[in-house]
Amino acid sequence: MIILGIETSCDETAASICKDGKILTNIVSQQIIHKKFGGVVPEIASRQHEILLNRVVDTSLKEAKININQIDAISVTQGPGLTGALLTGISFAKGLGLGLGIPVVPVNHLEGHIFANFLAEPSLEFPFVCLLVSGGHTQLWYIEGMEKYALLGETRDDAAGEAFDKGARILGLGYPGGPAIEKEAIHGNPNKYHFPRILLSKNSLDFSFSGLKTSILYFMDDFEKTKIKSLADVAASYQQAIVDTLVEKTRRAIDQTGADRCIIAGGVAANKCLRNKLELVLPENDILFPDFSLCTDNAAMISYLGQLKFQSKIFKKMNFSAIPNLKLV
Ligand code: KG4
Ligand code: ZN
Repeated sequence: MIILGIETSCDETAASICKDGKILTNIVSQQIIHKKFGGVVPEIASRQHEILLNRVVDTSLKEAKININQIDAISVTQGPGLTGALLTGISFAKGLGLGLGIPVVPVNHLEGHIFANFLAEPSLEFPFVCLLVSGGHTQLWYIEGMEKYALLGETRDDAAGEAFDKGARILGLGYPGGPAIEKEAIHGNPNKYHFPRILLSKNSLDFSFSGLKTSILYFMDDFEKTKIKSLADVAASYQQAIVDTLVEKTRRAIDQTGADRCIIAGGVAANKCLRNKLELVLPENDILFPDFSLCTDNAAMISYLGQLKFQSKIFKKMNFSAIPNLKLV
């Protein structure tokens, strides 16, 4: 069975071919045009998807040595994401599906991030705790099986990725903020400055990152005044505060559920400081991270999950549309 996956929820235009559960190609075109605006401009993202989609899909087919007529189904991200960006991908997928006379399977982007872990580790078994950390979401899930998801906690304000992006903007490090802060932090001392770790009540599995963002804003006001030139220390200390919070909440989730397995999903999972600290704090547990290329937005997770949904017939007919705030449950 051959599935073409299409992902256009934000600023990555991506296509992937999945054949019998194996990823043959994973083509991602990051829209660098947004860098000069310091963040994603939704209207520009939609237009860029329109320009890039044909080429990205074509490349994924060519590199996989698959003829377009060999595809059995197309899977496409339905949400969550930017409305226009999602609609561009969905319209493209439906047009192609109608033309080829094959089904189009809508896929939840968040579920895609979670299932990317099965690409990293095909022998992964349910149940497990999942820390889902992306640009728009920070959630802890208890995953018992396909479509058996219980939300343990989530952010009450900003997502962890947002905290990285906003922090990087305040530090003048550019967009996307996560990789920029991580790079700057390499030569910094994470203990030089103290930024708050908002842990809420003793057993809470919820997150809150808006106070952290405010604290770096005030800190930088003073910092610029004193003219101390060690941005690396600030970046490292700020990154450490986000990482410590994520790790503590994950530790609590594992404690409270008794799970011995934990997976990390979403763009922030690419952060090496987070990976190292999780392994340090939870040495008894089985912690799984996908490859870096499978953490940030990609279509491999969409083609793979699309195949699972298609095989188990868990999908609706063609009359679906974009759901910008689509939930997991
Ligand atoms: O999953 P993703 O690619 O897109 C969404 O679904 O939102 O996540 C994007 C987020 C951005 O906020 C970006 O700054 C963050 O993931 N990110 C990172 C790293 N790479 C991407 N955050 C920390 N460290 C990284 N290396
Ligand atoms: Zn994502």
